[in-house]
Amino acid sequence: MTVKQLASGLGMDVAKLMASMAEAGDAASTEEERVPLDTAELMALEYNHIPTVDKTSRAPDLDAEPRSAVVTVMGHVDHGKTTLLDALRSTAVAAGEAGGITQHIGAFEVVMPGSKTALTFLDTPGHAAFSAMRARGAAVTDIAVVVVAADDGVMPQTKEALRHAKSAGVPVVIGLTKCDAPGADTQKCINQLLAEGLPLEEAGGDIQVVELAAAKGKGLAELEEALHLQAEMMELKASKSCDAEGLVVEAKVDRTQGPAATVVVKRGTLRAGQYVVIGTEHGRVRALRDAAGKPLKHAGPGQPAEIIGLRGVPHAGDELMVVSSEERARLVSQARTNKAVEFRHAQSHESILEASSASD
Ligand code: GTP
Ligand code: MG
Repeated sequence: MTVKQLASGLGMDVAKLMASMAEAGDAASTEEERVPLDTAELMALEYNHIPTVDKTSRAPDLDAEPRSAVVTVMGHVDHGKTTLLDALRSTAVAAGEAGGITQHIGAFEVVMPGSKTALTFLDTPGHAAFSAMRARGAAVTDIAVVVVAADDGVMPQTKEALRHAKSAGVPVVIGLTKCDAPGADTQKCINQLLAEGLPLEEAGGDIQVVELAAAKGKGLAELEEALHLQAEMMELKASKSCDAEGLVVEAKVDRTQGPAATVVVKRGTLRAGQYVVIGTEHGRVRALRDAAGKPLKHAGPGQPAEIIGLRGVPHAGDELMVVSSEERARLVSQARTNKAVEFRHAQSHESILEASSASD
């Protein structure tokens, strides 16, 4: 976006905007000069606009490369979500360094033997994470695994999960869990799902069904394969080269490290040492860690990473923005804090940066 476009979006005089930018330490010499996103945001906030960036109208990155799919597991209470995630996580640990202790950071990566791209599983309670993100208009999930316990069948929260996914436009893979349990009846579950109007593969549709007995490690490879297939069809791609954009999936205070936030990078590369603003919080990325607690130098598109070094604890669904300096990080988070309530609702509203970012 240029200075001129920003001024017009803010409904203000170009000269006045240039003066304000200069005052903020971001002088532009011509009105055709491009305005960095954080400067645009500071100006918008100063002049009483709540900025949002419409990523859907953005031109595709020319250097986009295939990225990992981000997967959420949802389903009825007790239908085996945690058992499934634990089983998947242990395959990730087994495949990684021996003795790696997994900690709970809200997301983890699984790389299938022989596969180039990983799968990232969100490890937060599916519904909660999904709703928090959705309410903010922020979509972190690419694919939803909706589990149905084979010994129990389709239940109210199964239907709710299916509705959630549908309204978010997120494709579903069905995991029939507890196939080893007494009374398991997979055909009955399939019939129930068909009765719900779900276009399953066996009926000529495109929703895959995978039979699982996660407690015994059965069906995990098939599930990962189904997810890779789904991801391939979606042609998930992102640029690695730009500044990172990402979303918080979980945040907490670590006893020894202070505030810690797990983000999933959606675009670009996040690097240790960078300054970031996340929601109304900010800080320097003192360290990045994976789910095994191993330090990462950087995290790319689709990858989860825990950030250490924030001044406070952000919220699930908050977006991450990389800025050039500590001072800038402080300024943006301060400006957002002053408008915190409005800012948190901003994502669903139209705004000034939206139209202009299309030409960016
Ligand atoms: P909530 O988080 O409470 O909604 O439950 P959940 O969906 O995470 O289910 P969880 O993984 O805790 O499993 C519920 C019960 O089902 C536990 O007693 C598990 O041992 C059992 N269970 C889970 N997976 C399997 C499986 O593959 N086979 C069998 N036989 N039992 C399973
Ligand atoms: Mg659970």
